[in-house]
Formats: sequence, C-alpha cells, structure tokens
Amino acid sequence: MVAETAKIDAASGAGGGQPPRHVAIIMDGNGRWATERGWPRLVGHRRGAERVKQIVRACPDIGVNWLTIYAFSTENWKRSSEEVLGLMKIFRRYIQREADGLSAEGVRMRFIGARERLDPKLQSLMAGIEARTAGNTRLNLTVAINYGGRDELLRASNRLAEKIALGHLTGPATEADLQDCLDTAGHPDPDLVIRTSGETRTSNFLPWQAAYAEYEFSQTLWPDFTPDHLAEILDRFGLRKRRFGGV
Ligand code: IPE
Ligand code: IPE
Ligand code: MG
Repeated sequence: MVAETAKIDAASGAGGGQPPRHVAIIMDGNGRWATERGWPRLVGHRRGAERVKQIVRACPDIGVNWLTIYAFSTENWKRSSEEVLGLMKIFRRYIQREADGLSAEGVRMRFIGARERLDPKLQSLMAGIEARTAGNTRLNLTVAINYGGRDELLRASNRLAEKIALGHLTGPATEADLQDCLDTAGHPDPDLVIRTSGETRTSNFLPWQAAYAEYEFSQTLWPDFTPDHLAEILDRFGLRKRRFGGV
C-alpha cells in the first residue's frame, strides 16, 4: 500500500512547487469572444487557434511535458453546419501550417476521439503528423477531436469485451486492462485540468483520466488566454497539497 501511494505520487509529479507534468485544457469561450465584438463565431475560433500555437510553444519552457487540449466534443456536432465545417477547416489548416514548426520544436502530436466520423482528408492529415512527430519528446501534445469521455469509455469497453471473447485476456478485467483500451493508453493522467471562460463544468472531458486531477476555472475567454495566465495558474498549482486519498 505504501509502495502504491509512492508510485502514484511519483507518477503525477505534482505539488511541492513542482509544475504539473500533464496539463489538460478545455479551451472555451471562442464564440462569446467573437460575439462580444459583433463578429462571427468562426473569427473567435480562428483567434483561439492562434492561442493554441502560443501555449504549445510556452509549455516546455515552464516544465509541462504533456498538454492535452479539447478542440471538438462529440456534442459539438449540434452546432450549425457552417460552424462545424469552419472548425474542421481550422483543424486541417493548423496541421498543415504547423507541421514543420511542431516537428522542429520537438513536439509529438497525437489525437484522441472517434476519428471515423471526421472528413477522410482530415483523418489522413492527423495520421500523417502523428507518424511524422512520433520520435519527438520535448512536448507531448494531444488534441481531442470528436472526443467525448463517455464515447471513449464505451469504445474501450467494447474493445475489452472483444479481447476477452477472443481469449487474449482472461477476465475479470482490471483497471489497467481498461486503461490499455482507452484512446489515451500509455499517456499519464492529467495533473491539472484548466477550463477557460468561467464555466465550471467538465463537459465530457477525460472523466476516467482526470479522476484525481486538480481543477482550475479561469474567467478569461480562450482567445485572451496567454502564457502568462497559464504561468499564474501553474504557480497556484504548486501550492496545492495532493493526497490521493491518503493523509
Ligand atoms: C470553445 O469555444 C471551442 C469549441 C467548443 C469548439 P465555444 O465555441 O464553445 O465558445 P462559447 O462557449 O460559445 O463562447
Ligand atoms: C467544451 O466546450 C468542448 C470544447 C471546448 C471543445 P462546450 O462549449 O462545447 O461545452 P458546453 O456546451 O458549454 O458544456
Ligand atoms: Mg463553449
């Protein structure tokens, strides 16, 4: 038991003035940012994508080795087709325009979420940049596109059932077995989840992985969120005492 607790603490790399090893961000508020200015929502999404570039660049220098960002949820298909198509175009452009820079900066880019529903062109760009950056280690950037925590857990449960049915695994399954079937298999759990724009809900983001994460809710809308805002949140994180159920 003592060994187990020590293992969790070491894996999280958190608290005691240490930066979080893995930060996950719910990038919210793009639409309101644009609407407040009388502009179409897509302008906010474009500005949001510019912020992503800045935050990605800032992470390694402030000790963050894993960054997971929520770009499009399984619920976001409810939006107008104009907004959905506009977002998909932003994702394609981001990958095309950033590929060289990300590769050169040592960023390993990966995606989580159900890919089959995405445009084949986008899917192939995603696979391409994952392969191209697979050897990088300076920052592990994971982008959640068509991601929903419940959908991920359902897909993982079906994979697990299949493994058992095929005799690749003998039941009953363990937590580790389920974890191996998640989109995030092999990724450490997030230490800190940040949501911008003042909303205090998780909106189906990483329910399994963030079970013991610390949460920070920022009033700032995502297009206004700078590396300085991030640094300030990380300073507060360093003061937190994480107990993982211990004392
Ligand atoms: C977050 O900003 C980006 C996505 C969900 C794609 P929103 O588009 O949700 O912005 P608000 O919440 O409407 O302001
Ligand atoms: C969560 O934001 C999803 C992303 C940031 C991609 P939403 O704006 O979709 O969440 P709700 O609707 O406020 O819960
Ligand atoms: Mg929103």
